[in-house]
Amino acid sequence: MSKIVIAIDGFSSTGKSTIAKQLAKQLNYIYVDTGAMYRAVTYFAMKNELIGKDFFHSEKLIERLNEIHITFKFNEVLGFAEVYLNGENIEKQIRTLEVSKYVSPVATISEVRQKLVEQQQLMGKDKGIVMDGRDIGTVVFPDAELKIFMTASAETRAQRRYKELLERGHNLSYDEVLENVTTRDRIDSTREDSPLVKADDAIEIDNSDLTIEEQLKTLLELAASKA
Ligand code: DC
Repeated sequence: MSKIVIAIDGFSSTGKSTIAKQLAKQLNYIYVDTGAMYRAVTYFAMKNELIGKDFFHSEKLIERLNEIHITFKFNEVLGFAEVYLNGENIEKQIRTLEVSKYVSPVATISEVRQKLVEQQQLMGKDKGIVMDGRDIGTVVFPDAELKIFMTASAETRAQRRYKELLERGHNLSYDEVLENVTTRDRIDSTREDSPLVKADDAIEIDNSDLTIEEQLKTLLELAASKA
């Protein structure tokens, strides 16, 4: 079977990364979480006081983009690649609600997108890759052999995210999480550069009532039919 590119796009917290990770493992493909790359840039901006509660120095961030080096390193214990910013493992730091709040504005900046898209295209040049994000099937790999567009209701997604954050020990309310999910949907879908839209040739999967096993089975069948 030949190796293919699998693009998985969709709204925030649709469980894209959970399913993409498992799919990559089964196929022995590389998995790339592009949201983690936008989160890494956001974390850099926060650390350097370029973004905060009521400010965003986007021009300064653009000037400093060449100081940002994002890499992934496979963690044998966890079974997936963790994200590093300039050599520092920031996998945990980028999963906070604070980073989730600032990441969508950062992801509207064209210069940020250009830098990350170039890196993503390089990572997928030999195929055999599962990449999840918002613009993978439309911008990063418009010729991907398999494109999936994941959806689920905002409430279902907020509930999942809330549970996940609570389990990680974060102290917050369900309403805060729902507000974050719906705000990100709005910013991600209405931004000028590479908005979140379903590619014409993407297969839409609403996973509100599907188990991980059911989703994985569907995706493995689809991948086999394209390889
Ligand atoms: O997948 P995620 O929730 O970790 O993504 C975080 C944010 O990054 C998301 O709100 C929008 C942005 N993003 C993007 O603009 N393009 C991508 N390919 C991936 C993520």
